[in-house]
Amino acid sequence: MTILWDLDPRSLDTHRYALGADTVQVTAAGQIDLALHEGTHRLIVIGPDIDLDAACALAEFQRIHRPELGVLLLRHRVDVTTLSHALRSGVREVITLGDQTALTDAVRRSLQLTAQLAGHTANGNGAQSDGRVITVFSAKGGVGKTTIATNLAAYLASTGSRTLIVDLDLMFGDVAISLQLAPEHSIGDLMAMSGHLDAEGLTSVVTRHDSGLDVLAAPADPGVADRVPAALADELIRVARGSYDYIVVDTPPSLTEHVLTVCDHSDITLLIATLDIPAIKNLRVAMSALDTLGTSQEGRVVVLNRADANVGLKPGDVEVALKHSINGQIPSSQAVPASINRGVALVLDDPRSPVSAAIRELADREVRARFGEEIAPEAKRRPSLFRSHK
Ligand SMILES: Nc1ncnc2c1ncn2[C@@H]1O[C@H](COP(=O)(O)OP(=O)(O)O)[C@@H](O)[C@H]1O
Ligand SMILES: [Mg+2]
Repeated sequence: MTILWDLDPRSLDTHRYALGADTVQVTAAGQIDLALHEGTHRLIVIGPDIDLDAACALAEFQRIHRPELGVLLLRHRVDVTTLSHALRSGVREVITLGDQTALTDAVRRSLQLTAQLAGHTANGNGAQSDGRVITVFSAKGGVGKTTIATNLAAYLASTGSRTLIVDLDLMFGDVAISLQLAPEHSIGDLMAMSGHLDAEGLTSVVTRHDSGLDVLAAPADPGVADRVPAALADELIRVARGSYDYIVVDTPPSLTEHVLTVCDHSDITLLIATLDIPAIKNLRVAMSALDTLGTSQEGRVVVLNRADANVGLKPGDVEVALKHSINGQIPSSQAVPASINRGVALVLDDPRSPVSAAIRELADREVRARFGEEIAPEAKRRPSLFRSHK
């Protein structure tokens, strides 16, 4: 059933054809919850006179509590601000009032997506829809986002968790190249499946790394990158949660629409700081922006990369500037650029390097233990290293 939230009493008649016969109309937000409890509802359509903030608040709430439920928004006029605000909140599509064809199509797409999401939750070939999303972000380039994201993901995959790394640095993504992969497909190929993406569709565009890690590469063509809609990132993450235990997201050094969309879904936002003042200042600004947007502070983890650099700034100074404690430190090592140039994940290629140890420790404490995984002691976990001592 569909719920139409609209103030105009004639609205139900106007939209009945597009929305289907089994549509009920409510005029107040308070009635929605009641209606939701009285039957199986798959879609809420919000009328053009409902306040945008109220509409977005509803979408945001339902996205968490009923992720399969679709929310569509009707507006008298669709502008970029409305669109971005709405999509960021979890509204699936915004339709101009009067465009009945667009509304009919959007309803069909949303019902399809709902059916797929419900299918994943119910069975999905044994898949559960509770994969954890870890977004690696900093407001500056060159601080180690890609290094940390790829190594973290490769390590999580090596522990036996089904892991996907998504390269959301759409223009300049280098996840694939830093793992020496030549992907045939990229996020760009998901555009054709937009609105009806499912686990199989996702599998068809990922590239498998030797470690067992699945990689969803950024488009090779920046022209394609430019056309990837933020809503696709949203759909991608929803579907990926059903197929993977962990989804690690590498990002560009700015809060793009795509990054914001994914941050909203993230169980952990791994913020990378380095010992330089502009990077810290930018990170502070980004953290305030994330606060303003209401993303969870609970899942925020600050990692200091190249923590041992002798540059006159101490980790304590960073904590004061960021007003956040440092939850993990990764030292500087020549082994890092060397591993990138060789196209290997350092954490697997040289597990004894101090950088590998720091990444494992970070992953064990801030990711695996947080989600209830039992962590074996180092020696038990990597018996191959100790074989020579037997
Ligand atoms: N801990 C480290 N020690 C030495 N070099 C590092 C370390 N972390 C990152 N680098 C180097 O810094 C550069 C930028 O890293 P990268 O992960 O691509 O950053 P970002 O994704 O934030 O732009 C790379 O050349 C990488 O080898
Ligand atoms: Mg990068």
